[in-house]
Amino acid sequence: MDELLSRNDIVDVISSYVHLKKQGRDYFGLCPFHNEKSGSFCVTPSKQLYHCFGCKHGGGTINFIMEIENLSFPAAVRFLAKRVNMEVPEDASNQEESRRRQRILALNRDAARWFYQNLSRPEGEAAAAYLVRRRIRRKTAMDFGLGAAPDSWNSLMDAMSEKGYSKAEMLAAGLIVKNDKGRFYDKFRGRLMFPVIDVRGDIVAFGGRVLDQSEPKYMNTTETIVYSKRRNLYGINLAKKTKRPNFILCEGNIDVITLHQAGFNNAVASMGTALTVEQTRILSRYTKELVLCYDNDTAGKLATQKNIELLKNSEFTVKVLQLPQRLVDGKYIKQDVDDFIKFQGPEAFEAMLSGSENQMDYRMEAVAAKYTLTNAEDKIAYANEASQLIASLPNAVEREVYAGRAAEKAGISKDAMLLEVKRWRNRKNGQEKQAMRREALNVRALRQPEERTLRYTDERSAMAEEGVIQLLLTDGALADCCGGLRAEEFSAPWLGDVYQRLLDASREGRTLTLALLSESCPPEAVRRLAEVMQRPVPVMKSEQALADYIRVIQRAAEKRRGGEAADPLRAALDRAKEKKGYGGKHND
Ligand code: UTP
Ligand code: MN
Repeated sequence: MDELLSRNDIVDVISSYVHLKKQGRDYFGLCPFHNEKSGSFCVTPSKQLYHCFGCKHGGGTINFIMEIENLSFPAAVRFLAKRVNMEVPEDASNQEESRRRQRILALNRDAARWFYQNLSRPEGEAAAAYLVRRRIRRKTAMDFGLGAAPDSWNSLMDAMSEKGYSKAEMLAAGLIVKNDKGRFYDKFRGRLMFPVIDVRGDIVAFGGRVLDQSEPKYMNTTETIVYSKRRNLYGINLAKKTKRPNFILCEGNIDVITLHQAGFNNAVASMGTALTVEQTRILSRYTKELVLCYDNDTAGKLATQKNIELLKNSEFTVKVLQLPQRLVDGKYIKQDVDDFIKFQGPEAFEAMLSGSENQMDYRMEAVAAKYTLTNAEDKIAYANEASQLIASLPNAVEREVYAGRAAEKAGISKDAMLLEVKRWRNRKNGQEKQAMRREALNVRALRQPEERTLRYTDERSAMAEEGVIQLLLTDGALADCCGGLRAEEFSAPWLGDVYQRLLDASREGRTLTLALLSESCPPEAVRRLAEVMQRPVPVMKSEQALADYIRVIQRAAEKRRGGEAADPLRAALDRAKEKKGYGGKHND
C-alpha cells in the first residue's frame, strides 16, 4: 500500500479529473463533487490530501477514487494499481465481491436476452403489439434491448434457475421479490421491459412499463450492488457515441427511444427524477451542452426549474427546449417529446433544437407569464421580479440587454429598470458579505462535523481529540508519547476508534495515513478528518501540544465519570472505600 500511494501522487491522480492550479504549497480547482464557479477544492501534496471548503468532501487518494469512480475501497485500490502497472495480491474477500458483481451482471444479461426473446413468442405478444402501437420499430427495440415480461408469477425465475442462478442471486439483482410468507415471485410481470445499460455496456437494472392504463406505470429496479439510480442515465450507452454537439435530457424512457429512432441519438433520460450531480459528472465526460426537454406540464416545468438550479454554476451551457401544446379540436393539450415527434415530425424537432432558447430567456418568460402586463400594478410587480432575476446575471452586457427587454415589456424606461437591477445587486452583495461574516464568527458551527451522525457532545474535548489524531497522522512516531491516553477516554467514540487504530498500527510498526484509514472508516468520517488535517499544526513542539491535548481529554473524561478521578490517588481511595461498603448512597 505504501508503494501504491507513493506511486500515485495525489496531485497526479486528481489532475486527470480536475484542472488544478498551484497556489503556494497547495493546488486549487473546481470541486468535482458539487457545482461551483470559484475553486474551493484544495489539494495538499505535502499531506497527500484533498478537501473542499465548499461541500466538505475530502480525504486521501484512495478516497478520491472511491468517490469519483463510485468504487469500493478494494476496487479503488485495484484501479490505482492498474494506473501505475502494479500487481494487486488478491485477497479472498475482494475476489468474493467482484465475483458477486460479475454474477449479477451476467444474470441481468441473461434475463434481458430472455425478455427480448419473449417478444417473438406467444408470452410476449401483448408487449410486441404495444411496441407497434407506440410505433417503435423492431430495429429500435433491438438497439435498446427491449423485451417482454410475461404475465406470470414465476416464468423468469424458472428460466433463470435453469441457467444455474440461485434465488439469492435473483433477489440481489432485484429480479424477484419475497413475500411475507417467504415465497418468491417475479418482480416484473406483464410489462414491456427496458434494460438500463451503463457507459461500460453492462446491464445494471431494468424498468418495466405496463401495457395498459394500470398503476404503477413504471416499475424500476431499486438500488443493488451494481446499480445506483443517482449515477445512471437511461440511454447513455448509445448517446455517448453521438456526433451531435449536445445531449438532450428528457423525462422518460419512451421519449429517449423515440428520439433515437428519429435520429436524435444524443438523448438520455434521468428516469423520472430530477438530475443529480453524479449524473452531471457522467454527462460532462461527453458534452458541455445540455438541452432540457421535459414535458410541458407542471411536473415537467418544475423538474426543468430544479435542473436549471442544479446546473446554474456548472460548466454546462444549458438550453431549454419548450415543447408547444398541441391544438386538438380547438383545445390545447400537453404533449411530450414522443407526441411531438409523432405529430410534428423530426424536422420540426430539429428546428426547435437549433432554436432552443437559453435558460435566461426561459426564465424571463416564466416571470412574464405570471403577470397581466396591461395592468399597472402587475407591471410594477413584473418589473420588480424581473429586475431581481436580471441582477443575478454576472455579466454586465447581459444585464443591459435583458433590462432593455424587460423595461419594454413593463412600459418603463431602461434606465429605471437598470437602477432597480442595481439596487438588487447591492442588496445581494451586502447579504453575501454578511453571510460570510456570520460564518466566520460562527466558530461553534465550524467545530462540529457537517455529518449529523458524527456530532460531538463535548466540543472542547472533541477539539483536543481531533488535535491528537491530527498530530498522530502527521507524525506516526508520536504514538510513543501518548502516555496513558486510552481510546475509552475519548468523548467521541468514532475518534476513539481512529485513535485506537493509530496506536495499534504504530505498535505493529506500520504507519497509518488517512488514505489507509478509509478502508474501514465511513466516508463522512474521512471527510471530517481531511478537514482537520487542513488546520495548521500548533506552533509549539508536538510533544508539548500532544500533552496539552491529552490533559484536556482526560480531564473531560474524569468529569463525565462524575469527577470520580480528579486525582488518581483519591480515586483509588474512593474505590477502596466503596469495596468496604461505606461508599455513598448512589451505587451506580
Ligand atoms: P412518463 O410518465 O413521462 O413516461 O414518466 P414516458 O416514458 O413518457 O412513458 P409513456 O410515454 O407514458 O409511455 C417519465 C419517466 O418517469 C419514470 C420512468 O422512467 C418514465 O420513463 N416513471 C414514471 C417511473 O419510474 N414510475 C412511474 O410510475 C412513472
Ligand atoms: Mn410519454
